[in-house]
Parts: sequence; C-alpha cells; structure tokens
Amino acid sequence: MRVAEIRHLPGLVGERVRINGWLYNSRSSGKLRFLIVRDGSGYLQAVVFRPQVSDRVWEQADGVTQESSMWVEGVVKRDERSPGGVELEVGDLGIVSLCPEYPITPKEHGVDFLLNHRHLWLRSRRQHAIMRIRNELIFAIRDFFYRRDYVCIDSPILTPAACEGTSTLFETEYFGEKAYLSQSGQLYLEPAAAAHGKVYCFGPTFRAEKSKTRRHLTEFWMVEPEVAWMRFDELCDLAEEFVSELVARVLERCQQEFAWLERDTSRLEPAASRPYPRLDYADAVAKLAGKGFAVNFGDDFGGDEETALADESGKPVMITRYPAAIKAFYMEPDPQDPSRALALDMIAPDGYGEIIGGSERIGSLELLERRIQEHSLPRQAFEWYLDVRRYGGFPHAGFGMGIERVVAWLCGLSHLREAIPYPRLLNRLYP
Ligand code: 4AD
Ligand code: MG
Repeated sequence: MRVAEIRHLPGLVGERVRINGWLYNSRSSGKLRFLIVRDGSGYLQAVVFRPQVSDRVWEQADGVTQESSMWVEGVVKRDERSPGGVELEVGDLGIVSLCPEYPITPKEHGVDFLLNHRHLWLRSRRQHAIMRIRNELIFAIRDFFYRRDYVCIDSPILTPAACEGTSTLFETEYFGEKAYLSQSGQLYLEPAAAAHGKVYCFGPTFRAEKSKTRRHLTEFWMVEPEVAWMRFDELCDLAEEFVSELVARVLERCQQEFAWLERDTSRLEPAASRPYPRLDYADAVAKLAGKGFAVNFGDDFGGDEETALADESGKPVMITRYPAAIKAFYMEPDPQDPSRALALDMIAPDGYGEIIGGSERIGSLELLERRIQEHSLPRQAFEWYLDVRRYGGFPHAGFGMGIERVVAWLCGLSHLREAIPYPRLLNRLYP
C-alpha cells in the first residue's frame, strides 16, 4: 500500500493510498461518516460509507475521537467542495492510539489555558498556518543572504558582556564567573565582517523584559546582517530590499495559510514593493507633535508613538538619525550633527511596531573607548571588540530584525506569543 502525504493527493486521483495522521474533526449523516484527518501536510475529508466497509471499520469510524492517531486507506476522488479538491473513499482504517478527551476543543479557550497547552495548541489549524508562514520567512531570509554571497556566522549565546544595554540582561553563572545570555550577535559579527565582507547571524536572543507587552518576548529570534564598507544610506537600502523581498515571497508562497488565518493580504501588498518612506527623527517628532503627542526632541518613541508614526499606505516606514543619547553605544555619529547617530529603525504598519533596528558602527577607536566608558560598560570585556578598530579598522554597518515581530505583522496577530512555537514571557517558562 502506497503511503502518501495529504498535500500530494491532488496528483493521485484514482489511486489507492494510505494516510497516517490524526482525527481533526468528524461528523455523521445516516450511513455516512465524514472524518477530517490531518497529517501535518494538510487536511483530508475521508468518507466512510456503511455498505462499503466491514463492521470493524464502521465501528472504528464511529468510535474514533478527536486527535486519535490513525490511518485511513482508500481511493482518492476528485471533489471540488473539499479542501485541496479531493477526498478519500475509505476502504479500511485503523486507530493507532485512541485519544481520551482532548483538552483543546473547537469551543473558545482562554489564552492562559492555551499557552499552558502550547504543545497541543500547535496542532490547531490557526497555529499550524502561523508556523508554516514562520518557516517560509526563515527560509526566505537564509535564501536572501545566500543568493547575495553572505556568509552565516553563528554567534555565541553565552557571552561575557552586554550588547544592547545592561537593563535587560539575563545573568547566569559560568564556572564561577558571570555570563550573560546574548541580546544580539552583532558584536561578534563585526570581526567576522572583516574576515568575510558580508556576514549574517540568525539565532535566539534574550532580553529580560520585565514588562508585559504584546511586542516583547524574553527569548526571540533575530537575524542580523553586517557588511564591511557599507555606509548608512546603503544600509537603509538593504533593509528595504530585504523586507520587501521577504514580504513578496511569503505572500506568493503562503496563500493557503493566509486564507486559513483570514488575513487580508491586500494590506500586506504595498510592503512587497520598494521604496519605503524614510523620515528623519526630527520630522518624526514633528509629525507626532502634530498628532497631539507630548513628545520632545531627544525622547525615545514608545509603542503608541511607533503606531502613530507608521505609514497609512501599508508600507513600513524607516526612521533615521536618532539622537545618539537614546541609542546604543556602538553607533557612528552623523557627520552633519554628531549629537545624532547614523541609526535606523523600521516600523511596520498597522501597529506592529519596530521590526528592524540598525546603524553604521563607530569607526574610531578613541570614540568607542569613550562610549564604553560613558555607558559604564566593563572595558575589559570589550577588549576583543576594540580590536576590530585596532587592527585594520573599516567602515561597516548592519541591522537586526526580530522575526516574531515580522511573523506577527504578516499573520495579523494581536500578540507575539503566537509567532514563536514556545513563547517565553515574563510569567511563562512552561511548557
Ligand atoms: O533594536 P535592537 O535592540 O537592535 C539590536 O539588537 C542590534 N544589535 C541589531 C543590529 O544592529 N545587529 O533589536 C533588533 C530587533 C528589533 O527591531 C525587534 O524587531 C527585535 O529585534 N526585538 C524584539 N523582538 C521581540 N521581543 C523583544 N523583547 C525584542 N527586542 C528587540
Ligand atoms: Mg531597537
């Protein structure tokens, strides 16, 4: 018997196949049992007709419960009304493991309940669709860089020092020394850019965010390119090219998933093409003031400000040249106004907030030493990082994109917790 995946069935019409999977749902009508079976690759309506099956098959079709693991065997039939355009005329079936009452039912559940059952929640169709979109995004990211000859340089997770400020560091003990979980791979990429020119890292990063917001996880995945000789304007171009290409590709390849999520993809289409609007920080402050925000030059933007700064068109907006004082220690000053940094934030539309943060990096050894001091960072933990300036310094720039923020935006999620398989939040380390 040929074992098939549900997604391949449209090409197997008329053939007899066996599907291994789980019962998603079922309904009955007289001599008919309709079993919706899922196998991870898709959903299949398996039709059991009493006169055509043995007593054993009929009883099992009647007794199989939601999420029982099972197999069904039968002939693939064209059926325009079914998902995928096919259904299975069942000849035989078997229950592998009968499921006792499944905790997650089609009725409404509270978010805490669902998060406590995240390991099971992943099976539901909405979560399945989100993870498929995440998977496509991850592959598109790697492909983007591969096709442009970037080299993937994995950065360490256990580190001796902070990258993005000391307030969100997770500390741990490392054989009698203090170590921190990485907030960003950037510092390790800069030396690698001197070795390879164009590099990126893509891994888990950690921030001890002590607030509950819909935009923050304590563990999230960040992709970070770093490019030797790249200047600020080219960095903005790269960010724009990157995000527009990712959006276009996911839109093209995940239509089924977007349909399951009931996502209005016309809202995403503008972001699939360049250019994106660019807004100087000073103009952003003026725009916010015009909208009634009590914001002054020099202030950082919070979630509400970011939402208000987003473009109505559906394109992300790039805010440039922030005051150096509110940005990270490693950012190159703007030569036109050294109180500003050559910093870039990309804000997604529709309230999804900052998806990218990046900058040109400080080139001068002396200035970097001063910044490390001003930010009260432990100098000796950064000696190796200073070496990048000591031994053949070079202009370079890069950015980081948190992929859960992008998944949330693409999928239209109200909270980042659904954008990652196992979310880590202020009050959540289980499962
Ligand atoms: O702006 P951030 O802090 O930048 C950096 O870490 C730089 N070192 C990156 C670089 O230049 N190589 O973070 C970058 C992105 C944010 O724009 C956001 O998308 C995401 O990481 N991010 C978070 N995502 C989820 N939960 C959090 N707590 C996040 N903090 C940042
Ligand atoms: Mg940022």
